[in-house]
Amino acid sequence: MLGAFVNGGMAFTGQNRASFFLLSFFLASSSLFLYARAANSISQGQFVRDGETLVSSSGNFELGFFSPANSSLRYVGIWYRKISVKTVVWVANRDSPVSDESGVLTVSNDGNLMVLDGDNGTVWSGGINSSSVPTNLTAVLTDAGNLALLASADADSASADGYISYSHWQSFEHPTDTFLPGMRVRVNPTAGENRAFRSWKSLDDPFPGNFFMGVDPRLPPQIVIWGQSGREWRSGHWNGLLFTGVPNMTGSYLYGFKLSSINADGSMYFTYTPINSSKLLMFRILWNGTEEQLGWDEISNEWTVLQLQPAKECDLYNRCGDFAICNEMDSPKCSCMEGFSPKSPDQWNRGNWSAGCARKTQLQCRDNNSISAGDGSGMDGFLKLDGVKLPDFAEYVSVPSMDECGAKCLENCSCNAYAFARGIGCMLWSENLIDVQHFDQGRMTLQIRLANSELGTKSKISNLFIIITVLVGAFVLGVLVWLSWRFKNNLKGFLIFYWENEELRLFDDSVKNEELSADLCGTDGLAGDAKQVGGPDIPLFNFSSIEAATNFFSEENRLGLGGFGPVYKGKLFGGQEIAVKRLSRKSSQGVEEFKNEVMLIAKLQHRNLVRLLGFCVQGEDKMLIYEYMPNKSLDCFIFDPTKRVQLDWKKRFEIIEGIARGLLYLHRDSRLRIIHRDLKASNILLDEEMNPKISDFGMARIFGTNEDKASTNRVVGTYGYMSPEYAMEGLFSVKSDVYSFGVLLLEIIRGKKNFGFRTLEHSNLIVHAWHHLKEGKWMELIDPCIRDTCSTDEVLRCIQVGLLCVQDSALDRPAMPSVVLLLESEIVDLPFPKLPRSTSITGSIDTCSLFQSQEIDSSNGVTVSSVAGR
Ligand SMILES: *[C@@H]1O[C@H](CO)[C@@H](O)[C@H](O)[C@H]1NC(C)=O
Ligand SMILES: *[C@@H]1O[C@H](CO)[C@@H](O)[C@H](O)[C@H]1NC(C)=O
Ligand SMILES: *[C@@H]1O[C@H](CO)[C@@H](O)[C@H](O)[C@H]1NC(C)=O
Ligand SMILES: *[C@@H]1O[C@H](CO)[C@@H](O)[C@H](O)[C@H]1NC(C)=O
Ligand SMILES: *[C@@H]1O[C@H](CO)[C@@H](O)[C@H](O)[C@H]1NC(C)=O
Repeated sequence: MLGAFVNGGMAFTGQNRASFFLLSFFLASSSLFLYARAANSISQGQFVRDGETLVSSSGNFELGFFSPANSSLRYVGIWYRKISVKTVVWVANRDSPVSDESGVLTVSNDGNLMVLDGDNGTVWSGGINSSSVPTNLTAVLTDAGNLALLASADADSASADGYISYSHWQSFEHPTDTFLPGMRVRVNPTAGENRAFRSWKSLDDPFPGNFFMGVDPRLPPQIVIWGQSGREWRSGHWNGLLFTGVPNMTGSYLYGFKLSSINADGSMYFTYTPINSSKLLMFRILWNGTEEQLGWDEISNEWTVLQLQPAKECDLYNRCGDFAICNEMDSPKCSCMEGFSPKSPDQWNRGNWSAGCARKTQLQCRDNNSISAGDGSGMDGFLKLDGVKLPDFAEYVSVPSMDECGAKCLENCSCNAYAFARGIGCMLWSENLIDVQHFDQGRMTLQIRLANSELGTKSKISNLFIIITVLVGAFVLGVLVWLSWRFKNNLKGFLIFYWENEELRLFDDSVKNEELSADLCGTDGLAGDAKQVGGPDIPLFNFSSIEAATNFFSEENRLGLGGFGPVYKGKLFGGQEIAVKRLSRKSSQGVEEFKNEVMLIAKLQHRNLVRLLGFCVQGEDKMLIYEYMPNKSLDCFIFDPTKRVQLDWKKRFEIIEGIARGLLYLHRDSRLRIIHRDLKASNILLDEEMNPKISDFGMARIFGTNEDKASTNRVVGTYGYMSPEYAMEGLFSVKSDVYSFGVLLLEIIRGKKNFGFRTLEHSNLIVHAWHHLKEGKWMELIDPCIRDTCSTDEVLRCIQVGLLCVQDSALDRPAMPSVVLLLESEIVDLPFPKLPRSTSITGSIDTCSLFQSQEIDSSNGVTVSSVAGR
């Protein structure tokens, strides 16, 4: 009989088909040959007998019959092979064990995966609809711990990554109690709860137990543990980076979870990727309803619990009842929300909180008596509750701003609260407010709707403020009128200034809101692609007008010279100042292509990108017309001994955030998904108010290399900012920009260039920064002229984020959405960066006073062209 594979201790690699068949043949022809090497697959008609096992190709996992402790019943399961503690991660026949050692696992002739007992009775089957699958199937145990039933032709190429899309059946789609890296957990808002994992009945009994773990796919999705009486724990809403109800979700978990974009069938899925893929890691739901994340500790040779939920009393689902807050630090832990009182005070005082709380005063819109009052004085309002795990059963509404979110809530009388959360957007609650917990850290704020009379002192105080403000305002106005009478002209100037600034501010806010909603709707967020701001077609400038504007491209008007060509300052006939970039190289594009590309790039509009105003073509000569930035570029400030003091920490932080947002827009929110490829201080221009604007984006497209992620033999970049993989192998991706951003961030903090930075111990800024952070001397990394006035928390966070961005491996660097969140959030405890080593390529071009074009042809044909445009 074929398939008598006894695990002789060495893995039989699936790649080696030839020897597989040889071996099969040999086994078939010689039953005397007892000890064969273990295989990783069985094909139709073959068996795994009790006592035999399948071993995945690199020997990570093993499949076979086992008995739990204190039991003689036999189950087919998968366990880790290389560790000393037998840890079963999947069980086939969990509810129907074989009573003796006569069982076999087989792929039956009609293509079904089956466990048979000694009498050839079917104990378990994979439940495949045989009439719809081709015959000739093979069951493969992959290195990710997945048992997959594939067409035999596919068996050898089965990936070790986890989920296999072309399988007919796989254990990763029918998990038991354990979630392994590589699995997918489906999130389909229309398909209801996905209770993917079910606990064992007891420690020693794989029989389906009382607890489930899975996903509540209502947007925004959450992880939930269900017991017999309903929910036992939930993770809080997913915000694109982490689960908001797990306040200490840190380091190793941070980059682990990911929610995919939406598939054609409307579903997404959660995956988990450990930071270090060679470390063994799993999540599982225990028989007692606890979820634990375990990591294998190679030194102590045991599993360590990395995380456990529910961890504290307040984590228990709705511990304090409806409309109440659980606070671990308080005694007693439960209290009613403001404006609410215990539903049954006796029980409550006895510590029986199950009944929860109820409103003291009915909302105006629900109270028939007060509607007739109709004077507006009784309007409902909102009370802010800071630092909470937001209530369960939120209704996600797609509106762009906090105010509109509040308005949506007021519109509907059944709405009890709303929240507008970063990374999520607007959520409304129309049922009771369930499972609210107070956290010390965290920025989630719940706005609870209360009757006006319950808003109490706070609103009275704010009324008082309004009165005072009005009085002061009236007084100031009086003074102004008097002044205007005295100094007519001066006042006019002031008012205009004031008006313009107010306009600016308002505009700014609306942009912020737009961005927030864009954050939300990005592919990592909830609702697909962000909306692209569609600008009008941009004008084609007449060459003679450009000549006139730049005084025939005179030397005095030249702002700089870069690899893409010289940049001139110009003044149009109407007085508008412009910057003209005259593209020097012959791009590979024709005029029409060039036009199309420019049109696309002109549509990229963001507060932190330099506006492209138009373009001009004259024969072979191509020009791009940009808005003119009076404050030149960032390097003229941060590296300048006198001007650096003009940028205090607050301004620098704003600049960092601005650059991050601009880059996020380029990478994700714009339709084009632009990789900048030459981000550096001299490419960050500053407007009148020192707002940063990224320039020179999209040049790769204009020069005809617009692949998303690719390798190129023409490296465009600047020494000191190029990621190792880009500088050395010409590989670029969004993560190369992240690297440049990290360098820039450290430079802004230190006020020194990465290139040319040298101390006695360290040859570049990155390594210097890492060692200082490691030794706790990071204060010394701060530019001395801001050291005493900066916010040390913010600086520390920036240094850490900066170092995470310059990690050697692109995989270790966060993507821009995470960078933006990390910079702005206070919740997360950042992972400690690894020492970056591949920073040997450093260089500098002083672009501030002296513009140069540098082209270095090295022997391997890599051209480094440094661009120094303004
Ligand atoms: C099995 O598949 C066939 C053909 O696709 C279908 O007609 C039949 O209803 C399926 N049976 C079950 C039990 O799903
Ligand atoms: C099954 O597939 C294998 C490899 O694809 C092939 O060599 C073999 O002949 C097939 N067997 C049958 C019965 O079709
Ligand atoms: C990953 O983990 C393995 C095993 O624990 C360890 O040997 C290796 O150094 C780790 N790699 C990194 C990059 O941390
Ligand atoms: C707690 O209170 C609820 C109603 O408020 C009651 O039904 C329940 O029996 C009480 N539990 C205990 C243990 O007293
Ligand atoms: C108010 O909200 C509830 C719950 O979301 C919804 O069922 C109802 O239709 C809404 N009413 C109005 C008038 O929008």
